[in-house]
Amino acid sequence: MAHGAFPSAFGLRMVFSWQFWRMALLWTGSILFSHLLMFFSSSTWPSPSPGAGAGRGGGGSARICVVTGATSGLGKAAAIQLARHRYHLILAGRNPELLIQTVQEIKQLGHNNCLVEPIQLDLSSFVSIYNFQLSLKQRLSDLGFHHSIQLLVNNAGILANSFRETPDGFDEMMATNYIGTFVLTTLLMPLLNNSPVPSRVVNVTSFTHRCVFDLDVYEVLYARRKGQNYPCASTYEHSKLCLLLFSYELHRRLHLEPTCHVSVMAADPGVVETNIMRELPLFISRFSLLVLRILCLLQPPEIGVNSIIDASLAPPEASGKYFFGGKFRTIESSSLSGDTELAEKLWSASSAIFKEMESKANQTISS
Ligand SMILES: NC(=O)c1ccc[n+]([C@@H]2O[C@H](COP(=O)([O-])OP(=O)(O)OC[C@H]3O[C@@H](n4cnc5c(N)ncnc54)[C@H](OP(=O)(O)O)[C@@H]3O)[C@@H](O)[C@H]2O)c1
Repeated sequence: MAHGAFPSAFGLRMVFSWQFWRMALLWTGSILFSHLLMFFSSSTWPSPSPGAGAGRGGGGSARICVVTGATSGLGKAAAIQLARHRYHLILAGRNPELLIQTVQEIKQLGHNNCLVEPIQLDLSSFVSIYNFQLSLKQRLSDLGFHHSIQLLVNNAGILANSFRETPDGFDEMMATNYIGTFVLTTLLMPLLNNSPVPSRVVNVTSFTHRCVFDLDVYEVLYARRKGQNYPCASTYEHSKLCLLLFSYELHRRLHLEPTCHVSVMAADPGVVETNIMRELPLFISRFSLLVLRILCLLQPPEIGVNSIIDASLAPPEASGKYFFGGKFRTIESSSLSGDTELAEKLWSASSAIFKEMESKANQTISS
């Protein structure tokens, strides 16, 4: 829901809420803390050799990259950069018109050697994700490409202002930012595994994960906080922490197999001026952007995207790392995000949700 420039009842309620001031203080504190870590204890990975990510890699196969949420902000900026690195692009997004428009914009930039294909995807719906992977496989066959992908950039995300129930019965923000990403990655894993060259998953998370100090996996995944007191900021933080726990757990599980060539990176773009605050009252989002600009923390998407591109191009040995601040730098994420027991619990709960949604979808198809 869009909001006008003048304070609405919703906006005023938000400004006078404990939640708003908690978010303002903790989010500012956590981005400043990430910058401190970057200055004092970051590791820098070697940049890739020229030609890495080129259109044809070892094994003679074309390099295909799927970018979710590619119609706006960081997703669009990542797609443009990856086209420069000569990846063929599959752009995934909810809105077909925006997808076509983004394809045209990227083609107009003159990346003529790259294929740019749109496929519709709504991460808040299991059926849509399932249909996406079927369409992707069909598109690869139609184009005569190897039955594999080399890079999956899980970028799509929202900051919702209210509880909205998805077709599968979850909170839309949690479904889009985490559950849908878990489902998509699981469904695309056979294509990543099948790659003749090393392949990769990049999960776009956020410094806001640092604001969570305790996580009840079941409460967070099944939360249904309807009404005026929707905890917008903490739901966003939880979804980003879940995505990070998932990244590390996926890395650990894949690397139990020494021959596994799928790496998993987390990327945190910092604070970036995009449409992410579109559901917040306009006077709040404008004021927040002004304060962030004064603090020199606000970046344009073309700069904020650097951590995502670094995570996409860094050597496979950087699997399981958290990219922040560009220049191939990684920093430590919160200690809770490194809790392996919590990550395993989240993995089991997410796998159970996956299986349940899969069997429901199969029942619908067969009836
Ligand atoms: N901006 C920041 O400061 C910042 C900081 C840290 C992390 N991030 C993360 O960066 C990522 C990109 O966000 P952004 O800042 O670029 O925001 P944005 O400009 O709002 O872009 C979000 C993208 O996600 C897509 N999307 C939303 N819901 C979707 C769904 N159900 N299925 C498929 N696609 C969906 C949107 O498509 P529609 O056009 O259809 O809505 C849009 O293309 C997010 O994961 C966000 O959490 C952003």
